[in-house]
Amino acid sequence: MWAILRPNSIAVVGASRDPSKIGSRILRNILSSGFQGVVYGVNPNASEVLGVRCYPSVLDVPGAVDLAVVAVPARFVPQVVEECGRKGVKAVAVISSGFKEVGNTDLEKEVVEIAKKHGIRILGPNIVGVWDTRTPINYSFIDANPLPGSVAFISQSGALMTSLLWWTRERGIGFSCLVSIGNRADVGEADLLALLREDPRTKVVAIYIEGLGLGEGRKFLDEALETSTVKPVIVLKAGRSEAAVEAIRSHTGSLAGSDEVYEAALKQARALRAASLRELFNWALALALSPEPGEGTAVILTHGGGAGVIAADVLNGMGVPLAPLPQDLQERLRKFMPPFGSARNPVDLTGMMTAESLRGALVEVLRDPRVGAVLVWAGQGAIPTPEELGEAVVSAVREVGLAKPLIVSITGGGECREVLKRLIQAGVPSYESPEDAASALAAVYRYYRRRRERKGEPARVEGDRARAKEILGRARAEGRVLLTPVESFEVARAYGIPVVEYAFAPDLETAAKAARVIGYPVALAVETPDIAHKTDVGGIALNIKSEEELRAAYAKVMEVFARNVPKARVFGVSVRKMMPRGFEAFVGARRDPVFGPVVSFGWGGVMVELVRDFSLRVAPLTQDDIEDMIEETKAGKVLKGYRGPPLDVEAVKNIVASVASLMEDFEEISSVDANPIFVYEKGAVAVDVKVYLKA
Ligand code: COA
Repeated sequence: MWAILRPNSIAVVGASRDPSKIGSRILRNILSSGFQGVVYGVNPNASEVLGVRCYPSVLDVPGAVDLAVVAVPARFVPQVVEECGRKGVKAVAVISSGFKEVGNTDLEKEVVEIAKKHGIRILGPNIVGVWDTRTPINYSFIDANPLPGSVAFISQSGALMTSLLWWTRERGIGFSCLVSIGNRADVGEADLLALLREDPRTKVVAIYIEGLGLGEGRKFLDEALETSTVKPVIVLKAGRSEAAVEAIRSHTGSLAGSDEVYEAALKQARALRAASLRELFNWALALALSPEPGEGTAVILTHGGGAGVIAADVLNGMGVPLAPLPQDLQERLRKFMPPFGSARNPVDLTGMMTAESLRGALVEVLRDPRVGAVLVWAGQGAIPTPEELGEAVVSAVREVGLAKPLIVSITGGGECREVLKRLIQAGVPSYESPEDAASALAAVYRYYRRRRERKGEPARVEGDRARAKEILGRARAEGRVLLTPVESFEVARAYGIPVVEYAFAPDLETAAKAARVIGYPVALAVETPDIAHKTDVGGIALNIKSEEELRAAYAKVMEVFARNVPKARVFGVSVRKMMPRGFEAFVGARRDPVFGPVVSFGWGGVMVELVRDFSLRVAPLTQDDIEDMIEETKAGKVLKGYRGPPLDVEAVKNIVASVASLMEDFEEISSVDANPIFVYEKGAVAVDVKVYLKA
């Protein structure tokens, strides 16, 4: 894998004699990037290109080759990779387009299979290339280089990566490497995370994702989580809207999973999710340059009340509240402002601010251990010029050092941009707008806060596997995709989910006997493997108080059900105890094509869809994941005692863990739905459970 970033020897396959062609451009860029290793060309029609010796095939190259960069038409790529395999090449970067993204899935598979056979890693196909600023190397077909720095950027889109090269250069954002992964046929985000985690030059990993491959989600989540414990991972995941999902499908041929699942997975991975490219790089810059915030409050230092309030709002909105500064610090700050200034927080030096007063106040807050982080905002047009503002900040930093995050925003015309760039070069993340600066500072807080969170104990429930297997096996043998209510209850019980007291009755007399044992009031439900929502077709009778009522209800339910759905099979009924109403929650799970089992918890009952109050997590779950799921919902607040006594949260957590474990243990289950679950002050009971099988 390291051959992708740090090759010692490279062969450019398709090193064209035509300087305008991609193969020629790549060769030129490698030569001009300062690459110190050995470079060969491969071209059957040339013996030399750009002064580099060319060979008809990679097999003819005299020395070892770590990395082959391939820029020949797609149909030749399998043959090239085969030859690379025989040559002992470690990695192949396929620049060529014309694979999965245009429907040539088989060709792409063929390339990967050949590579696997030889133990080669494939980057791409359909990529713009790679830059590594330490090696240094540029084996892309773009003749521009990023500034060296400590952000690693991985992107599924090559064009986006290219345009950002200039955008980030303008802003002074530096990179350790840029890796275009295109169709990601073999090397994906997870592999690169594992690699970059070990790379001391990389301080932040920024990723642009359109979609992960089928079944790859969990591996990505695990690698991102592991990486997040040592360095920040920031992800921009495109495809929130349906239109975007369509565009992605036609773009890289990757499968876009539901956005909500990605959102949950990124939280579990302790990754930061950026909402825009601007956020992605703004946050990356701040995290690359900033140390961990200190214990005390964040401070906004400004000369304009308005910008101070804007920044404070953003910080607050992202969970970084500002506290008033200690009195003695306020006293010391007052020296740097007129009597009508404010030393509380935001600290307002007013329009009378000079470069000296800014410098003086900044030194005070940077030095005080009761200040956790500092945000400075200044605007052009006040007495100091943008240059003077920049110098004041740099001079304060020089005096005190940067033991806590310092983020600067200077708003104004073009002159400011140069100053911001210089500040960044001096190690101070700096932005034009106060919102961007505040959002970047909040991202720094968010990362370190999440990093401190425990990874958590696994939340596994060891169920009665044999019992569940037997029931599921029977249903599958009958070709069913839905368990009957009684079967669903049995499976749930096998995994420790408390369910309502019930009995199966094949006929009326058995039902009457069962009701006497359970005790009135009871409910009746038609026992059928064909209809999931029985209320809609008259298959359920509630609140039956006596045997007389039971007999009447039985007849009615059977008659109405048969009339509404004459084709549905009927095995009898289930008799269930009518439970006193509790708070109605639900726990469900489904199998996501990318992430596998996804568990949800939320406000239950018949209005689930209307209320839409739920949280998701990808299984396997930790105890912390479950705690977060509860915490994130309004239902969770009710459970913890909102205008009422606290309810049995632990019982609900156990149900969540059970449902997750059930999904993990049985691949054949496509979804589980326990809704409603009545939650009481003591205990919780699933009143209805539905288990669906894969078709
Ligand atoms: N091994 C080595 N060299 C070979 C070869 C082989 N099997 N087959 C052909 N070549 C040589 C050719 O002789 C030619 O060199 P020459 O110009 O000196 O004769 C060179 O390789 C290029 O081949 P050519 O057929 O002219 O292809 P091309 O340069 O027009 O296009 C790609 C090749 C890869 C650039 C093109 O197919 C492609 O995929 N372009 C899109 C790339 C892209 O956009 N990637 C994604 C970015 S996000």
